[in-house]
Amino acid sequence: MDEPPAEPQHYFTAQPAAPEERRRITVRLAGRELDVEVASGIFSPGRLDLGTQVLLRSVPPLPDGPRADGTARQLLDLGCGWGPVALTQAAQRPEADVWALDVNERALDLTRRNAVAAGAPRLRAARPDDVPDDVRFDAIWSNPPIRVGKAALHAMLERWLPRLTPDGAAHLVVQRNLGADSLQAWADDRLEGLTTARAASAKGFRVLEVRRDG
Ligand SMILES: C[S@@+](CC[C@H](N)C(=O)[O-])C[C@H]1O[C@@H](n2cnc3c(N)ncnc32)[C@H](O)[C@@H]1O
Repeated sequence: MDEPPAEPQHYFTAQPAAPEERRRITVRLAGRELDVEVASGIFSPGRLDLGTQVLLRSVPPLPDGPRADGTARQLLDLGCGWGPVALTQAAQRPEADVWALDVNERALDLTRRNAVAAGAPRLRAARPDDVPDDVRFDAIWSNPPIRVGKAALHAMLERWLPRLTPDGAAHLVVQRNLGADSLQAWADDRLEGLTTARAASAKGFRVLEVRRDG
C-alpha cells in the first residue's frame, strides 16, 4: 500500500498531468539486479516502494508448472505501476501468463518496456477492460491504490478477487495506518465465498491473504 507524502497525488489517472521525465533505476527483483525505466506521474518512480518490498518478501511461492488441464497458469498484478510485482512474477514463473493491470497509460507503457528489457514475453500490461472475462487467476499480488478512495478500491477488489481459481490466493499489501485492518474486515465480510486473513506484518504494513472459503 502506498506511503503518504512522497508520492505523486494522481498517479492513478489515465493520462498523468505531470510532465513525463523518464529515467532508469536499478532495482533488485526476484534475486537479480534489473535496470528499469520509470517516470514522473506514476507511483513510486524513484525506488521500489517499501510496501511492495514487504509484499514481495511475504508472498508464498507461486504455483509451479501448468494447470492440471495442461494450460498455463494465469498470474495477476493488480495495479502494476512501472511493473515490479509483475516482473517478479514473470521472473519466478516464466512459463506462466502474467497480467499487469493499470489504468495509468504511462505506467502500462513503462511496464511493457520493462518486460521487454527483462526478457519477459508472457507479461502483458493491460487496461482492466482488456482482460477477457473468462480468465481466472492462480495468484493475485497487489499493492492496491488506497488513494483512489474506499468506493473505488472496494469496487476494484470486488471485480478481481472473485476471479481466483478454486485453489488460488491473493496477497495484498496495505499500510497499517491507512486502513489495513478495516480493509481486512470489509473484505472478509463483503467478498462472498472468500476468506481474508492477515498473512504477515512488517515495517508498518500488513499483507492480507484472500482465499476461497473452506
Ligand atoms: C500503490 S500503486 C502500486 C504500483 C506498483 N505495483 C508498485 O508496487 O510499485 C497502485 C497502482 O494501481 C493503479 N490503479 C488505480 N486504479 C486502478 C484500477 N481500477 N485498476 C487497476 N489499477 C489501478 C494505480 O494507477 C497505481 O499504479
